[in-house]
Amino acid sequence: MIRSPEPTQLTDRFGRAVTYLRISITDRCDFRCLYCMAEDMTFLPRNQILSLEEIYTVAKAFSELGVKKIRITGGEPLVRKGALELLQQLGSIESLHELVLTTNGSQLETMAMPLKQAGIKRINISLDTLDPDKFKAITRTGDLRQVLRGIQAATSAGFERIKINAVILKDRNHLEVNDLVQFAVDQGIDVSFIEEMPLGVVDQHNRSESFYPSDLIRADLAENFSLLASTEKTGGPSNYFKVAGTQTRVGFISPHSANFCSTCNRVRLTVEGRLLLCLGNDHSVDLKHILRTHPNDMLALKQAIIAAMRIKPEKHEFNIHEQPVILRHMNMTGG
Ligand code: GTP
Ligand code: 5AD
Ligand code: SF4
Repeated sequence: MIRSPEPTQLTDRFGRAVTYLRISITDRCDFRCLYCMAEDMTFLPRNQILSLEEIYTVAKAFSELGVKKIRITGGEPLVRKGALELLQQLGSIESLHELVLTTNGSQLETMAMPLKQAGIKRINISLDTLDPDKFKAITRTGDLRQVLRGIQAATSAGFERIKINAVILKDRNHLEVNDLVQFAVDQGIDVSFIEEMPLGVVDQHNRSESFYPSDLIRADLAENFSLLASTEKTGGPSNYFKVAGTQTRVGFISPHSANFCSTCNRVRLTVEGRLLLCLGNDHSVDLKHILRTHPNDMLALKQAIIAAMRIKPEKHEFNIHEQPVILRHMNMTGG
């Protein structure tokens, strides 16, 4: 059979080029953030998740199809055994421009330097509050001091950029936004404020009542900081502002109040090997099945990836006021 020549770029039905792959390498996490998980979670058994070798194979296939940026996520990616070795391997794929990581920061005190040496350029660290009690209430199991030591280690390790991610919930941490920006300014790093997305059923707060839109955060910050509009992009969904007189950028990720789907450039590999075409929809292709029924067949894998572009949805349709339509929790995709 003659197979068609391989394209070097992945493009969907809406003309969007896919150049960014997010890979969740574990659904497990040492925290239980109340917007991400229910208190009582069951995690996947080992044979249902991709091996590190399978993850590498998928990443290599995407890089050969024109993907330039890979973000490793979880759960908490650094709790998976062998994560560092995988990152070192990915760091040596020459055609990748950026290997980046999203983490909760709990392991960074010891891992920041090895991560930098593995070729990670930028890291995003979740931090929703600087108040130890609120931190414990939001993460259920996290220790703020440990994460702050991790951030310290990361700033010393010399990454190109570090960004704090804060999911803002009304009456839980919405009064913290000025302190978080001041912290970012003091550390010479960036911060993004995120509107909560209704993924999976959570049990400790009402997402509709907790919704706190980006424009209210901007108004809260205006009392203390001068935010200058910026055209800078990282290839992610943040809309950035520069804090006048500092190195710090403040980003707003507003899936509800400012839809960014028209410029979407990314797809996700879930922990169980599904290629997910959109965070807010369930359209997916089972790459684990292809990897396991056609071992070592790179062409079959690439053809499945190319074909998957046809089912990438135009946009997400989140409704924070109704029960979630998407039952997958955020720890399956790492955001
Ligand atoms: P950079 O821009 O590369 O720094 O990363 P990022 O901000 O895109 O990634 P990060 O992992 O820090 O994610 C921050 C937030 O953005 C998370 O809450 C993600 O769920 C959200 N996010 C990232 N991509 C998308 C997307 O395609 N759709 C939606 N709805 N949310 C997204
Ligand atoms: N809505 C928005 N952001 C979320 N995150 C986790 N769950 C949600 C949610 N339901 C964020 C984390 C992390 C990033 C990868 O996703 O705080 O910073
Ligand atoms: Fe863990 Fe991140 Fe989910 Fe918090 S948001 S429970 S740190 S995966």
